[in-house]
Amino acid sequence: MWKTKITELLQINYPIIQAPMAGGPTTSELAAAVSNAGGLGMIGAGYMNPEQIHKQIREIRDLTDKPFGINLFVPSSYKASQEELEIGIRHARDIASKLGKSFDYADFPDYEGDYNVFNEQLQVVKEEGVAVCSFTFGLPSKESIQDLKELGIIVIGTATTVDEALLNEEAGMDAVTVQGSEAGGHRGAFKPEAPESLIGSMSLIPQASDSVQLPVIAAGGIMDGRGLLAARILGAEGVQMGTAFLTTKESGAQQVYKEKLLSSTETQSVLTRSFSGKLARGIENEFIRRSRDIENSLPPYPIQNTLTKGIRKLAGEQKNPEYLSLWSGQSVRLARKLTASELMEKIIKEAEKAANLIK
Ligand SMILES: Cc1cc2nc3c(=O)[nH]c(=O)nc-3n(C[C@H](O)[C@H](O)[C@H](O)COP(=O)(O)O)c2cc1C
Repeated sequence: MWKTKITELLQINYPIIQAPMAGGPTTSELAAAVSNAGGLGMIGAGYMNPEQIHKQIREIRDLTDKPFGINLFVPSSYKASQEELEIGIRHARDIASKLGKSFDYADFPDYEGDYNVFNEQLQVVKEEGVAVCSFTFGLPSKESIQDLKELGIIVIGTATTVDEALLNEEAGMDAVTVQGSEAGGHRGAFKPEAPESLIGSMSLIPQASDSVQLPVIAAGGIMDGRGLLAARILGAEGVQMGTAFLTTKESGAQQVYKEKLLSSTETQSVLTRSFSGKLARGIENEFIRRSRDIENSLPPYPIQNTLTKGIRKLAGEQKNPEYLSLWSGQSVRLARKLTASELMEKIIKEAEKAANLIK
């Protein structure tokens, strides 16, 4: 029951991918533990510089000889109006003062541009010959995809609609992750943006699987063996799980964040643009509530993300979950406090049990 197009492609034992989670949760220990347990561990490298990426790849290689992957953010150009910038800065100052700090945004320069670390990040992936490279927020050029493939690196894209899955296929990806609206973290949507692209996994998985030849990986709301089996039945060749791995021992999520996840419910998982300027799903807190009225007038990603960086860092230091981004999917009640290998083992057993139920 465990052999699928994804286990074959990625050379793993179980079709379980630990979601790349940029910003700290995907430690070397987490990725290596998942790969050692027969899944695919992934590094969320979207915010990392080349040295940090080299370092983490080497750390993981010391912990496992199994394949693992890396994930990058595909850049796009951005521009904020003067008004958006003013609203964003005023709001950030307001919130910072609640935390007892004042930030100087007086000559905040970053109102327009392209993020340019992407090519440097790609270069590291190529130099290190990482087994798998996945992308979100858009599509890299066909040339970049071909370059990686020529080096034997497996490339995986992200889609939130059938059209985006087809664009991934046309671009030359080896597989596509379809991200349902239940998913924790940022939306990978690039055409169109939300709300049109908020499709639940139950709808998205079978429609995407019917429309592309590529193996489909399901992401969004999958926390256990039942979810894995359900996704397989709907046509997915594998699953990518984020929230489920956030509460494992090896995850780098802060303790207050883990505790919040372990005590939250599905109705507390909400969509917001307030932290980064890009739509994302997380546990509702004071920061999100205070931003509700203006969240559509804030600067776009990545400007808003840069504006709130100091606040999130400070909230982390103060262990104050009310001003942290608590990214989480809608199936958060199913989060468990386990080690990554215990979680992998449970998911596999649960899926086997669920498969017996429908025999
Ligand atoms: C904390 C967190 C950070 C995330 N960061 C990334 C990322 O850097 N790159 C990416 O492709 N997806 C990222 N995601 C989305 C996951 O790849 C995946 O779509 C999602 O976790 C699936 O939904 P689930 O959380 O219900 O399992 C993130 C998700 C979470 C919860």
